[in-house]
Parts: sequence; C-alpha cells; structure tokens
Amino acid sequence: MEIQELKALIDRLEREKILTAEEFALLVENRTPELDDYVFEKARAQAGEFYNADVYIRGLIEFTNYCKNDCYYCGIRHSNKNADRYRLSRDEILSCCEQGYELGFRTFVLQGGEDPYYTDERLEGIVRAIKQGYPDCAVTLSVGEHSYESYKRWFDAGADRYLLRHETADAMHYQKLHPASLSLANRKRCLFDLKKIGFEVGSGFMVGSPYQTPQTIAADLLFLKELQPDMVGIGPFIPAKDTPFANEPAGSAELTCFLLGVIRLLLPAVLLPSTTALGTIDPLGREKGILSGANVVMPNLSPVRVRKKYALYDNKICTGDEAAECRFCLQRRVESIGYKIAVTRGDRAGWVNPAQK
Ligand code: 5AD
Ligand code: FES
Repeated sequence: MEIQELKALIDRLEREKILTAEEFALLVENRTPELDDYVFEKARAQAGEFYNADVYIRGLIEFTNYCKNDCYYCGIRHSNKNADRYRLSRDEILSCCEQGYELGFRTFVLQGGEDPYYTDERLEGIVRAIKQGYPDCAVTLSVGEHSYESYKRWFDAGADRYLLRHETADAMHYQKLHPASLSLANRKRCLFDLKKIGFEVGSGFMVGSPYQTPQTIAADLLFLKELQPDMVGIGPFIPAKDTPFANEPAGSAELTCFLLGVIRLLLPAVLLPSTTALGTIDPLGREKGILSGANVVMPNLSPVRVRKKYALYDNKICTGDEAAECRFCLQRRVESIGYKIAVTRGDRAGWVNPAQK
C-alpha cells in the first residue's frame, strides 16, 4: 500500500475517530517508520489538547502475587510452583500510601492476583482506610474478575477506578491465552458491570501476545471504541519463565508505540499509560510512549523486598529501586522530553465525579 493512502487513513481516523476493522488491520500490516511519525505527531497534538504537557503519575502497590487463575502468559499464574508468593498486610499497604503521598502521588493503584485471602470484606476495609487517610486521592483497584456485588461493595467503600484489561477482543484468541475456566464473555461482563456501577474503567491488551494477528488487534480497537473506557493500558507481551509461553517472542516497542498513537486518535481524551513493560523491552520505551501520545506513568510503590516477586514477565525494570528513586528517575525522564509530572488525582479530561452528578 502507498504511504499516501495510509496517511489518508490516519487523517480520517483523526477526523472521524473510527475506522473499519479492515482499515485498522491494513494500518498494522503496512506501517513504516514514516507512518509512525505521522501518527505520533497527530497523537501528541491530541494529548496536548486535553492534557497540555502534563504527565500523570499513579503509585502502583502490588499487594499480592497469589493468584487462582492460570493465564498462560503470566508469571504469577497458579501453576507456577517457582513463584515466591507474598501478601502485604493492611499496614504495609498504608505505609506505601504514606510514602507515596509524600512523593506527590494522588492516585494509588492496588494491583494483585485473584487472591481469595482478600475477601470482599478485607479489601473493603483497606479501601476505606486509604480513603480515610487520603481523601484527596483516588483509589484504583486491579484485582481481576469478580461479581457485580463485589465490585459494588468496593465502589461504595470509596474505590474510584478499576483496571481490567480485556487482553484480546477475539474469543478464539482469548481461549488460546487462557484456560477454559476463563472467557471473553465474562471479562466483558465485568467491564460493563464496572462502568455501570460508576467506576472510571481502564481496559487494554498486550501487544505481540502469542497468536495475535492484525485482525485481532483491529477487534481490540473496535472493542475499546465500544467500551469507551477512561483509560487504556497496552504494553508489549514479554515472555515469563516457567509459563507455557516462556519461549515465545516478545512484542515490539515499535508496534506498541504505533498503537498508542492510534488509540490516542481513536479515543482522544483517554488516559494512556506508557507502561513498565514498554520500558522493559526498550530502555527509552516510556519516553517513546509519551512521545507517541501517552500521558500517564505508573511507577512502583511496593516495598523493595517484594518487587522482584511480582514477576508477571522476565527482566522487569525498577525491581531494585526504592519508590523515591523511581519517582525522581521518572521525573528526569519526563522532563528530558519536554513534559512535566503533575501532582493531581489526574482524572480523565471531561470526567464527572459520580458523587457530584
Ligand atoms: N507480558 C506482558 N504483560 C503481561 N501481563 C501479564 N503477563 C504479561 C506478560 N508476560 C499484563 C496483562 C495483565 C497486566 C496486569 O499485565 O495484560 O492484564
Ligand atoms: Fe524506576 Fe527509573 S523509574 S528506576
């Protein structure tokens, strides 16, 4: 395909904020460095419209690596007997928040495997304690698939946001990445329940996961348009040892950045993190992500003693660094490309707090 035709597709995406599945697949199949730059420039302009040069930070607290699920790509899957399991106590979590607040974080993301130890009640207590101590902060949960009732309970306790990647919007592909106990239908049910309850919702997918094709990526983009999430997390697949996909190739930083740009044009006001996985496959990945249209970074606030244990994939960066080191390292990186870190909850542009509706 001629570069001019591809650029014309990008122009139309920018104007109409949608393309067909065939057109998205064509872009993925035919992209070149020249087209990448064309997308990035437009994506940066859109991000600037809504967020200026601000980059939002989220303090990520990886509070448990126990998981009852067995996703084939994930290093903390239940069957991985070599994973060194840990849980953080409520007090440990609160002390991460205390440290994080000092460092300028106004969003705390509690992420963990699907760990039955954290019952609805326990997690509710933790959410309440954080909201009580830090009423000006947003609490984000990222703990997998649960019932409408569980989600509602955590929302009523004060949780503001929920992250749950759809992973792939193609049902056959979904089944190649997950055991039979998990389904795309239930994942979607969860996402629509979360929206209905009033959470700010984040979804997303891995780039370059095994069996992914330009067509499944097109389905991902169309699903995101349908879901209208507040945040979209994408990062390259990176193989994890002791998993069924240990010997599969990693996804590329180039395609990840291209898709960040495309998602910025598809959902212009969306919160778009430049992920740790992107920073892991490319030392300048997080900077490149921001220059492709991303506007969020999520440094780790977990205690250093557990950092290496939350190993979703191999060679994860920042596992030896204290929270403060990552905070200032990221500030340097963000400023080196002409952006600045904002001390704010950082809700999506145009978002209306349900409590004030
Ligand atoms: N490589 C990259 N990302 C991964 N995730 C899980 N395992 C891997 C991996 N091997 C991502 C999933 C999940 C998020 C928390 O981390 O997309 O939703
Ligand atoms: Fe963790 Fe740079 S962000 S060391």
